Amino acid sequence: MAKTETAISILTADEVERRVEEFAALLHACVHAGASINFVMPYSEDDAEAFWRRKVLPGMRDGTRVVWAAERDGRIVGSVQLSTDTPPNQLHRAEVTKLLVHPDFRRRGIARALMEELEGLAERLGRSLITLDTRTGDSAEPLYASMGYITAGVIPGYCRDAFVDRLDATTIMYKAI
Ligand SMILES: CC(C)(COP(=O)(O)OP(=O)(O)OC[C@H]1O[C@@H](n2cnc3c(N)ncnc32)[C@H](O)[C@@H]1OP(=O)(O)O)[C@@H](O)C(=O)NCCC(=O)NCCS
Repeated sequence: MAKTETAISILTADEVERRVEEFAALLHACVHAGASINFVMPYSEDDAEAFWRRKVLPGMRDGTRVVWAAERDGRIVGSVQLSTDTPPNQLHRAEVTKLLVHPDFRRRGIARALMEELEGLAERLGRSLITLDTRTGDSAEPLYASMGYITAGVIPGYCRDAFVDRLDATTIMYKAI
């Protein structure tokens, strides 16, 4: 698959709600493939759907969260979110969350393309500082580094692995745009 065959767009809250099972399937697949993105086993598709309904949709509806979908032949194969739910003294900042690419569609430039769209919107919204965190050593780390994100630091023992009883470090990164 070439990068150009993937369509990336911002979805409305109604569109995400209508396709919530697809978003849940994407999240569920990533967690079960080993992603460290807040969840631990056992993790069901119902758990994943509850995340989209309870944690994502309210932010979309109150205007503090933007969700992108990467689609291939009409199927959602990737997603990323930008949270602008920052305090009054940080209205120039926004946070990247839940960058997800389905395990079957990785290393095709989808995450990079999603991040480029996200950065473009952040800039248009006047958000000049983007922050994020990612488990230290995960494949997202070299992706962010290659896009100019700088490592602010590493916090050891930050998050539990999804499958085994082990605490992993997280890397805090930022980019001024
Ligand atoms: C991290 C993730 C989003 C990357 O998605 P992707 O679409 O495969 O990434 P891309 O194809 O756009 O890769 C862009 C660059 O990132 C780096 N990269 C991506 N996957 C990598 C891997 N497994 N190992 C090393 N570098 C990797 C490479 O520099 C790559 O460029 P290249 O392919 O030209 O070498 C995907 O692996 C994923 O969904 N992981 C689980 C969820 C997760 O951890 N999300 C991040 C939360 S902060």
